[in-house]
Amino acid sequence: MLKRRESQLAVLFVCLGNICRSPMAEGAFRRACAQAGLDCLIDSAGTAGYHIGSSPDPRAIKVAAENGAGIGELKARQLVPTDFYDFTHVFALDRANLEGIKAVAPRNGTARIAMLMDAVEGRKGEQVPDPYYGDEEGFRHVWAELATPISAILDQLQDRGIEARF
Ligand code: 4NP
Repeated sequence: MLKRRESQLAVLFVCLGNICRSPMAEGAFRRACAQAGLDCLIDSAGTAGYHIGSSPDPRAIKVAAENGAGIGELKARQLVPTDFYDFTHVFALDRANLEGIKAVAPRNGTARIAMLMDAVEGRKGEQVPDPYYGDEEGFRHVWAELATPISAILDQLQDRGIEARF
């Protein structure tokens, strides 16, 4: 992890394996930040360690590429306690991930923690479904589901910066 400058935004997306949903969220948010000119460190991690060092699922890579985001070079890693100081915002893709995040978060960690969908008006508590055991269409559905919260967090981070709450 690159050390962020004080007051620089740093966003971490977290799912279970860090090979499907969170790398897709990372790719979508990287692309959105580049287009918007927002300076933000971006990474993803998994609550579980099954796939440490693996590339994203080939279906995730394919669907991201179809949408202009290159995620083929990413490597899965597991969430660690220092993430809660290195990142300003940590987003869970589903409720089980949120519980996994809270189990690792140090008591005095500084990151704000939320479910990704909580950023969307009227969709609080909703989850991004796990596509791992399904087919490629499930990955397309995940990509489509990510568009609204990705754009919502971008807007709120641009408006409120490091103080943004979700
Ligand atoms: P992800 O999907 O959490 O979106 O990366 C999964 C990846 C791997 C497994 C489950 C979900 N797995 O059981 O290995």
